[in-house]
Parts: sequence; C-alpha cells; structure tokens
Amino acid sequence: MKHYITTPIYYVNAKPHLGHAYTTIINDILNRFHRLAGYDTYFLTGTDEHGDKIVQAAAQANQTPQAYVDYISGLFQKAWPPLSVEVNDFIRTTEERHKEVVARFMDLVNKNGQIYFGEYGGHYCFGCERFYTEKELVNGLCPDHQTKPQFISEKNYFFKMSSYQDWLIDYIKKRPDFIRPEGYRSEVLGFLRDPLEDLCITRPKTRLTWGVDVPFDNHYVTYVWFDALINYISALGWPDGEKFAKYWPVVQHTIAKDILKPHAIFWPTMLKAANMPIYRHLNVHGYWRVGQSKMSKSVGNVVEAMTLVDKYGSDPFRYFLAREMTFGLDSDFSEDRLVERYNADLANDLGNLWQRATSMILKFNEGLIPISLPASDDESWYRRLDDLKSIYESAFLSVNYRAALNAVWDFVGYLNKSVDVEAPWALAKDPAKKNRLDTVLARFAQGLAYIGSLIWPVMPKTAVDIWGRLGLNPNYLTLDFRKIFAMLPYDRVIDPGQPLFPRVDLTGETKPPKSPKPASKPPEKPVALPPGIISISDFQKVELRVAEISQAEAVKGSEKLVKLRVNLGYEERTICAGIAKHFTPEELVGQRVVVVANLAPAKLMGLVSEGMLLAASSEGQLALITPNRQVPLGSKIS
Ligand code: MSP
Repeated sequence: MKHYITTPIYYVNAKPHLGHAYTTIINDILNRFHRLAGYDTYFLTGTDEHGDKIVQAAAQANQTPQAYVDYISGLFQKAWPPLSVEVNDFIRTTEERHKEVVARFMDLVNKNGQIYFGEYGGHYCFGCERFYTEKELVNGLCPDHQTKPQFISEKNYFFKMSSYQDWLIDYIKKRPDFIRPEGYRSEVLGFLRDPLEDLCITRPKTRLTWGVDVPFDNHYVTYVWFDALINYISALGWPDGEKFAKYWPVVQHTIAKDILKPHAIFWPTMLKAANMPIYRHLNVHGYWRVGQSKMSKSVGNVVEAMTLVDKYGSDPFRYFLAREMTFGLDSDFSEDRLVERYNADLANDLGNLWQRATSMILKFNEGLIPISLPASDDESWYRRLDDLKSIYESAFLSVNYRAALNAVWDFVGYLNKSVDVEAPWALAKDPAKKNRLDTVLARFAQGLAYIGSLIWPVMPKTAVDIWGRLGLNPNYLTLDFRKIFAMLPYDRVIDPGQPLFPRVDLTGETKPPKSPKPASKPPEKPVALPPGIISISDFQKVELRVAEISQAEAVKGSEKLVKLRVNLGYEERTICAGIAKHFTPEELVGQRVVVVANLAPAKLMGLVSEGMLLAASSEGQLALITPNRQVPLGSKIS
C-alpha cells in the first residue's frame, strides 16, 4: 500500500509561524500514521517563490528576489526538523526541475487546445495575486486584504476553466470524500453554482519578470498559482519519474480554507485538461485564531512556534495542536490552554499511568514484565484492543486527529482506572493471587507498549523513550499489538526513568519541563587539578551505555577491524572495533557490551564508526566489558 501527502508550498514573503507549523505537523502525523501501519509513504513540502508578493517583500528587505527567496526558503527548511517533521522532499518553485515541468505542463495543455490569448480587464489585488469580479469585492475592497484593488486591463493567456464546470460538479458529487470535511465540499459546490470563468494564467513581463517563462511566448511569465500547484507533480518527476507512477495515484493534499478555491477548482480542472488522474482527497482545515482574528503576518498577531517548542518540548506542542483543533473548524490559540492540556492529558493522565504502572512492576515483580498467562477475561482485553485499533485507524483515515487521540486517551483512562480496580498491592499480599497479579502487571506493560506505538505519529520522541524504557526496540514500532506483545522482553528490568511529563506551573513563570535553566549561582572558580586528574564533570561528558551486538563481520582488507551493528534499545548503530585478532564475528553476536555513545563519528577503512566499544587489555589479551546482570539496552553507566 502506498501513500503520498503534501502540504501547501508556503510563500516566502514571511517567516514560518504557528499556522504553517500546524499544517506541516498534522501532515507529518498523518504520514507517520501510514508508516506505522506499514505503508510505503512519500511526504512533500516546500516553498512558493514567484509572483508580485515576493518581489515586493524582497524590495522591502533591500535584496534581490533570488537572495531573498534563498534566505526565507532556508528558514522554512530549517524550521521542520526541530518539530520532528521528517519529509521526503522539499520543493522550491525556483528550482530548474520545477520550472521545466511547469513549461512542459503548459505546453501540453496548450497542445490540447485548452489555452487561448485574450484581453481582460479586472480588479487586481496584489496581496492575493488575483483578479476579482465586481461581485466578489466587498464595498469595492478585496475581501481578504480590505484594500482597494487596482483596475488592470491587459492581454494575457487564458485557461478554458469554464468548460470544465459540469464535469467538476459531477466529479465532486460522485465522491463524498474527495473534499473533506463535508462543509468544504458543500462550499465548493456552492461556488460552482455560479458560472465559472476562464483563468488568466500569465502576466506580461512588462509588469512582472519574477516567474516561470511561458514556453510558447517569451513576453510572458506564468501566473504564480498555475506555477505553484504544479509543484505536487514536479517533485515526483512528472511525467516519466518512477516516483510519479508510484505515488501520484494515491495523492492527498492538505491545506487551510484560505486556499480552497485554487485547490478545489483550478487544480482538478488543470489536471483534467492535461488528461491526468485527479488527486484522491483534499483535506481542508480551519484557522488558528489569536484574539478572535486569523493569525497572520499582516494582522501582526503571529505566534512563533519555536518559542513554544523551546519552552514545552516538540512532542507536547505537536500533541496540543493535533488534539485541540477539530479538523475543519477554527480554533483559538492560547498558551494557557496549551499548559492546561499539558498538565491534564500528559502530566496527569499518561505521565501518572506510566509512573504508577512501572513502579508496581518494579515493586511486585523486581522490575520484570511477567509472562502473561491465559486469563478468564482475555477475550475482553483483546476485544478492547481490537476496538481501539480500529477506531484509531478509521479516525486517521478520515483525518480526524482529535478522535484518534481521544481513543488513545480513553484507553489511558481505562488503564489508570484498572490500577485502582485490580489493586496490585492487595493481590501481592495473597500468594493464591500470584497469577492474577502477573496478568495485571503484564497488561500494564502491554498497554503502555501499545500506547507507545499509538502516540508515535504525534509524539515520536516520547514513543521511542517509552519503548526503550520497556526494553523494546523502536525500529519495530507497529500498529499490530499482538506483534508488540510477542516482542516484550520478559527477562529485562524495565526502566521507570524520570517522569515522562513533569508538571508545568500555571501560576507565575512557567517552568520549562525539558531543559530547566540552571539556578543563577555565581560562576565557580575553576579549581586547578593535578596533571592527569580530571573533574567529575569531565567524566560526565562521556556517555556510556549498555548495548547488544546484533551483527558482526570482518572488514575486508583489515586484519584488526570488525564491523559491528549494536542495538542501544532506542536505536542501532555501526561501530568499527579493532578486535578482530581477539574475537571471531560469531563469538561477538549476542554479547552485551558497553559503548561510548556520544563519540563524534569517525571514518575507518572507508566505514563510518558511530561509537566505541569498551574492552580491558592485559598481556596482549582483550576482555569485553559487560554488565554483570540483565539491564535494559541503552541503560546509562555512571
Ligand atoms: N503559496 C500558497 C500555497 C500554494 S500551494 C500550491 C500559500 N502560501 S501561504 O504561505 O500563505 O500558506 C498558506 C497556508 O499556511 C494555509 O493554507 C495553511 O496551511 C497555513 N496557515 C497559514 N496561516 C494559518 C492559520 N492562521 N491557521 C491555520 N493554518 C494557517 O497560500
């Protein structure tokens, strides 16, 4: 199964803000959900870099358009990794690969007889980069910018969009989930009740040169929307690319309602005119509002996403956005609301569950997950999990992020309640109830492991953390809970670790939960140490961790080196160790070892080594350093 998801490509006339972050994050969540379900996925974002708006912004910044777009596009590219957004490609409309496809697409539509040359006079809004009809203006002003459009009359090329009106109405009517949620589908059908006009798709170079050249007339550049929409296929290498053949048939676009018309009307008719398949879904969300108006640069009420991420962490930030907004409707953003949700859902519900369940496994079974025994109520336990899985899946498949998270939090609530109902502390007092105690503790571990998987699309760092603490390898995160239960290690002590989400103080200064600021003490005077002696803080710089060797092979052309894959619980790494003369690869596989986990990678014999293995040497012999009892992979050594 395959899956292709796109964000709008953002204008580079402003820096990324919370609104852009929201669309990009929910797409990343959707993409990760499909990855978790085992799909082959492709996720695209990028920047829209042509048109009047950009030329004006560059002039204001006293820069050339190219220098300006390079700078702002760079800000967008850098914005996503700290938010745990992992894209497959980032497209820029000023790239050659894109411009070539735009020219080819225009040629094709022209050859298909769908473009003509004509004269047009209309009210042009530079902010929207489009002409408005008299009827669309509100008191003679642009409905979005409340500015007076300029009347422009000029010769241009036009796309025969009007001839697709009946086809489009029919196409939308036949597909209830083509544009979703339903409200936006009705809105589009509403627009289509009025006659559709042809679309002016060029701008004369006498007025604008910053655009893609029109292939059949070098006095014109392409209208920015006609150029921008094509990004969704140029990134796949249309028409020949292997990626195009693979992913185009399964594409879905996600946007906010501001750009509904170009996506729901221009784009499908453009695709139809090129005899291409139409996208599968258009997912449309509402606006984040701040203080009753849409957050936007022009209103001046922009919320910087990164300030919040630094304060609360990227996982809680992603969680808040996905859980708070009902997809399709507007939502009011406030930091207080974020803190409320953080404390209620993360610190209280999930954080407490983790704390209580793991401390009971520690207390009543020495930290080991009991082997789950057949129990009389197994059927209802598995039915609950099957139901959870199917509600979660169908919620994501219908882009209902909130419903998917509600289902997970209902389950968190159920487990929290079952701690009280089952009362493991009472079961532990009665040896006759040992089996029930084991079942209950095993279910806590199973439930937490499954929650770890289910929250991965939204909170990837927490998910990997939970899996590592339970001794599971996060490379195998999956939606299939039966598989997870089979992977749960029954011989490793779990690691309750630090609270998952320390509470944030609502009164006064909010305490950052992730990286607390050091108390302001006067700097200590450095103490002179005798030569060869290091301070405790020097030692603490070295991150030593327990790992397991999962693969070992000799390095060709080297007598000394062995190439190892080591599993650190939270990730796998390659380490090249100079131990070939002392151990055979077979002897090494399965060994628990200690590795330096924060060593800068080094290249040895053309291989990148990402760490170092510890061994003691004496009289020419080597001994590997290994923990003297079972501890979870990734455990820190201090
Ligand atoms: N360049 C066009 C899109 C071309 S796509 C072929 C564009 N760019 S934009 O920078 O203005 O981005 C608009 C998008 O940013 C919205 O559709 C939405 O995804 C996101 N948002 C911007 N402000 C937002 C809010 N206040 N709330 C929610 N989303 C917001 O339009």
